[in-house]
Amino acid sequence: MINVLKSYKELSSTVADIVEYQIQEEPLTKLILPTGSTPLGLYDELVNRELDWKHVITFNLDVYLMNVKHPESYQSYMKKNLFDRTNIYPDHCHFPFRPFSAFEDKITNSMGIDLCILGIGSNGHIAFNEPGSSFKSRTRVVNLSEQTIKDNSRFFDSIDDVPKQAITMGLGTIMESKRIILMANGNHKLNILNVAMNGEVTEDVPASILQNHNNVEVYYCD
Ligand code: GLP
Repeated sequence: MINVLKSYKELSSTVADIVEYQIQEEPLTKLILPTGSTPLGLYDELVNRELDWKHVITFNLDVYLMNVKHPESYQSYMKKNLFDRTNIYPDHCHFPFRPFSAFEDKITNSMGIDLCILGIGSNGHIAFNEPGSSFKSRTRVVNLSEQTIKDNSRFFDSIDDVPKQAITMGLGTIMESKRIILMANGNHKLNILNVAMNGEVTEDVPASILQNHNNVEVYYCD
């Protein structure tokens, strides 16, 4: 179930091939997109391929509860790394918003997500669904775990600057996607990836819910 690729370049281009094919086959594609360091190469690849994003609609997995203008907000990240470098319409780029039921309705009314790209946190989180999150969870405010705050402190001047809360799509929301791709980069992710994909399906390891989805691919490079 885990496809091992030779390099980060290959990881990025393999997933870019999937996104490119999806957009070419269905210009009105609905995507769920991740942030973090892992998808940066994917976004570079996609930008270089000069795809037509005119009809594409995106939903981001999660956002920190922080000033959206901050350079490390996920809104800033997406603008900088993808949106401002393509012809996507800003109105087509959605981030979780309140009321959360309206955000969820927006996804449902878009006739469903064609492709969801995920990363994985070192504690097995997907989006910001930390260990213990209900498999039925929907979009909501969450407290970040100490591990996640520590892991993500590399993007901030100090650990005290890392937001303590976020809004995340729920595991139930993510699982409604028609197709899911999980990307993981680095040896430090291998153990949790194995636990999630080959171990017990449990709310203690949020990514393990993916074993219950019938159209998931996992791509890893060390
Ligand atoms: C953050 C994001 C996740 C992402 C994870 C892994 O916590 N909320 O969606 O999967 O980081 O990030 P990285 O790719 O930097 O290891």
